[in-house]
Amino acid sequence: MSPLSDSHTGGPLGYGPLVALTSLRRTISVCAALGLLLVPGCHAVEQALPYAEAVRTSPDDMAGLQARTVTVDTDHSVVSYRYPMLGGAHPLTVETRTRMARRQTAFLEELPDRGTPELHQDATILAASPHLVGARLTATTSAGRDRTFEASTLWYDAESGEVLPWTSLFRDEEAIQQAHLALAEVLEEGYNLPPQQLPGLVGEVARGEGAEDGATARAENPDSSAPPLDGPPGEEGGEDEGPGLSDPERAHEAAQRWAGSPLQDLAFSTAGGLAVRMDPADVPAAGRVDEVLVPVAPEDTEGLLSELGYQAREAALSGNNADDDLPLGEELSAQGHTLDCARLKCVALTFDDGPGEHTDALLDILDEYDARATFYVLGSLVEEFPDPMRRMAEEGHELGNHTWKHDDLARMSGTEIRKDIKRTNEAVRELTGSLPRTIRPPYGSLDGTVRRSVDQPFVLWDVDTLDWKNRDSDAVSGHALDHTVPGSVVLFHDIHETSVQAVPAVLAGLHRQGYHFVTVTDIFGDSGLEPGDVYTDARLP
Ligand code: NI
Repeated sequence: MSPLSDSHTGGPLGYGPLVALTSLRRTISVCAALGLLLVPGCHAVEQALPYAEAVRTSPDDMAGLQARTVTVDTDHSVVSYRYPMLGGAHPLTVETRTRMARRQTAFLEELPDRGTPELHQDATILAASPHLVGARLTATTSAGRDRTFEASTLWYDAESGEVLPWTSLFRDEEAIQQAHLALAEVLEEGYNLPPQQLPGLVGEVARGEGAEDGATARAENPDSSAPPLDGPPGEEGGEDEGPGLSDPERAHEAAQRWAGSPLQDLAFSTAGGLAVRMDPADVPAAGRVDEVLVPVAPEDTEGLLSELGYQAREAALSGNNADDDLPLGEELSAQGHTLDCARLKCVALTFDDGPGEHTDALLDILDEYDARATFYVLGSLVEEFPDPMRRMAEEGHELGNHTWKHDDLARMSGTEIRKDIKRTNEAVRELTGSLPRTIRPPYGSLDGTVRRSVDQPFVLWDVDTLDWKNRDSDAVSGHALDHTVPGSVVLFHDIHETSVQAVPAVLAGLHRQGYHFVTVTDIFGDSGLEPGDVYTDARLP
């Protein structure tokens, strides 16, 4: 089977759950670094490597913040992810989850056929204050002896409500260039790297080769000690100097131009400068370590950061302890859409005509895959099964209205329709605390009167498993697996045991293909659902 556990599985690199103060406080022989051990007398020379301690806080350890850890363990792979659960549909949670979900899909679509492939994704907090929240996303894969590691950072700016890339921490692209030069200097002087061996963009900038288009074109104001630009993006004033990298579009463009820069995995250091993670393979003097945190001294960052950057640094240095003033959203909840399905392989599994005696078992099965579903319940059954109803709501599933007792709405008057829908809505609210968001008319039957009589959207389906008719689990799962495409809404009935028994194979098969199981509201996402309109699926164009 596929046990799911809530315990956090640390990645193979073993990042601790507490503030990770990774350091390289050790000495090496300069000669060893240069491969000159055989030179007489050389081994006697020792030198301390410059190091930085990064401020990285586990979301589990932050007051007012909750994190969710999920592991899906199947016979072909293990995937896990931990993300901070900010309130409602907080932009930082949506962006974090969506990036992790995309990474997971890519991993499963290209699953190596050897070893026991694993993907572990994690998010830690780099800075948190009333102004911003900074998060570091890591992805570690392993398959046999092959390992990969990726990291990036996201910065939620409370003023604009935007989630921005690392470039937004800098005043402009000239400042980014200067930060690369500062890194180059530390690598040359502290790690004895000759200029021609400086890696990637650091080497290109130091040798005056790369990224010149962004950096020099932007430098209209040559005074590098100019104060950071402030004011919200889109403010009309100051157009001549440009909004700098506080403008989301410019920040994203700059992040593309500087893709591959070690600064995309920067943190603030306990010393008040930057701690920039570099691949040990690029820094031979560091020896055999998991990561090298190269310091940029506090004085070398002066004048380089944006207003957001200085706010982030202040937050990190103050221990990210702003408590209840953090911009975390109003209410922490499993509800609310937390994935952007316009950028993902999503499917909405829907279950009609319940709740019933098999619904509890179904909820257990869904939980194994961190799957969210939508239940179109009958108002007349709701009181009979209060516990599954409450469980659905608590575990992040969505409740929909399937009328009081499965009457054909198209054969009813407007008054009768309104009365039936309202009665069912209230029955659901009574038990779960919230109203159903959408209606599924029995038999998919609706006409103009039905559409005009209610102020909720109607949701049908594009994949009908015909489970009520054939009562054959293999046929039901086979149909679902054969016909689901990204954006599909799949119809089942959880009152039949054979339908519930088909779900493990559906989840296993679609998970293996990289699908994410979301609610109806999630799958239609930002395009929204209009009252009275009829929807079948959210297939991507
Ligand atoms: Ni039905």
